[in-house]
Amino acid sequence: MDKLAAGTTWLAIAIFVISVIATKISRWKSNAHLSRRPLPPVVNVLALLPSLFNKGFWVTINDLYTRFGTVFTVNLFGPKITMLVGPEVSAHFFQGLESEISFGNFAEVTIPLFGQEVLYAVDTATRNEQVNFVIDVLLPSKMRSLVDPISQEVEAYFAKWGQDGIVDLKHELEQVLMFISCRCLLGYEIQEMMMEEIYSLFHELGKGLNFFSYLFPHMPTPTNQRRDKAHIRLKEIFTKIIRSRRSSNRVEEDVLQRLMDSKYKDGRSTTEAEISGIIMALVFAGKHSSTAASTWTGAFMLSNTKFLIAAMEEQKHIISKYENQIDYNALLEMDTLHRCIKEAMRMHTPSQMLIRKAHKNFKVQAKEGKEYDIPKGHNIVIPTALNNKLAHVYSNPHVYDPDRFGPGREEDKVGGKFSLTTFGGGRHICPAMAYAYFQIKLVWSHLLRNFELRLISPFPEADFSKLGQEPKGKVMISYKRH
Ligand code: HEM
Repeated sequence: MDKLAAGTTWLAIAIFVISVIATKISRWKSNAHLSRRPLPPVVNVLALLPSLFNKGFWVTINDLYTRFGTVFTVNLFGPKITMLVGPEVSAHFFQGLESEISFGNFAEVTIPLFGQEVLYAVDTATRNEQVNFVIDVLLPSKMRSLVDPISQEVEAYFAKWGQDGIVDLKHELEQVLMFISCRCLLGYEIQEMMMEEIYSLFHELGKGLNFFSYLFPHMPTPTNQRRDKAHIRLKEIFTKIIRSRRSSNRVEEDVLQRLMDSKYKDGRSTTEAEISGIIMALVFAGKHSSTAASTWTGAFMLSNTKFLIAAMEEQKHIISKYENQIDYNALLEMDTLHRCIKEAMRMHTPSQMLIRKAHKNFKVQAKEGKEYDIPKGHNIVIPTALNNKLAHVYSNPHVYDPDRFGPGREEDKVGGKFSLTTFGGGRHICPAMAYAYFQIKLVWSHLLRNFELRLISPFPEADFSKLGQEPKGKVMISYKRH
């Protein structure tokens, strides 16, 4: 017995020693190639506090870029954030494998919003399949069938406006886009029954995604509690609709239905919780970004007569060519309007920065020429709001100039892959880019054709504290029906 105990002890010691040596070797191996290249320049967050306080976040980041170049690290008392500025240093961020660079523990943020069963909360394989369902239902080719329902919603909404009046453009666009989401994504049951409730539930859910909730997602603050209640109620509503459709074998023409009919590769059907979670994520993803994008489009067009006139002329031309019927092809021909929207989103991108976590060391060559090693464990940030204004990619980057995307210039293409990352890029590019443009185009096409509009409040400032960098305060416009 004694011999057995001694043998076991020696075996345990041997395993311990071997595993310590193995760990050392693997650490040495992973750091071995790190030692050949320097780490990026590091700045301590404490040193940045005066600038952050006096000049704000984006001016500070811009100053760091001017000082250090396209790759630098901010040390947050332990956690490190490495900024990659510009298309030249973005490839690994967008194209790296999930095992090399991923969303990290973003699930902490999304579980309270969309549930345990979807997207960042599930394993990568399941998540990829779920994103593929979304890609499939939002394919540009599927947009054809959405043009009529969206047009009907837009017409019905603006029919409620009077002959002339004054409105808050931001509020109006948020409302009409929510009607569109309800119609195209959620289905007619919501339309009829509970549009107002859904609107305010998503509003509460949205308020639950702020900086404080990001850091303390489970703290029982009033905002977090209202967010949780909204989540539970939305799930209840969607589950009821799914059950009712399934029990009556009723089939509808909307995204909810397509998600209900989706199947995983192993043949498993989507569950109620998964469908509800994905649908919540879709409405949520589009709500703030599309509202901000369409409001900025309006603010810029109404302040730039040249582009306003060009967009109106284009509408006149298209409407006469298509005999007053806006269909899929007509939308595709609205190049001027498309560029006005694209440029508004470049100036004020709804996704201010994109974030990942490095799981493996990787190498990056700064635009300035130097090569750096980025160690695993770093949080990696693409500052989209800064990237979209880089002077070596965009001429006069602070001027609203939709023509920069036009024939002969195409500055985003000339600048190289990942020059314009308003919709992300690579593996996780927004699957709803075509849908987002379609709905914003349909709204603005209607407004330009039917109303004379004027911006009567001062040109809005950007509210950087809000999701989607939306315009601060109200954006008042006057309208007169043609
Ligand atoms: C103007 C409108 C929009 C903008 C600017 C926008 C922007 C983005 C960006 C930048 C990403 C990539 C995030 C990253 O790489 O970290 C993204 C991903 C995503 N977007 Fe959008 N989006 C918009 C509208 C929408 C809408 C309307 C929907 C749904 C109907 C949607 C659904 C998604 C989904 C599901 C993803 C995740 C893709 C993935 O993780 O692979 N987006 N979006």
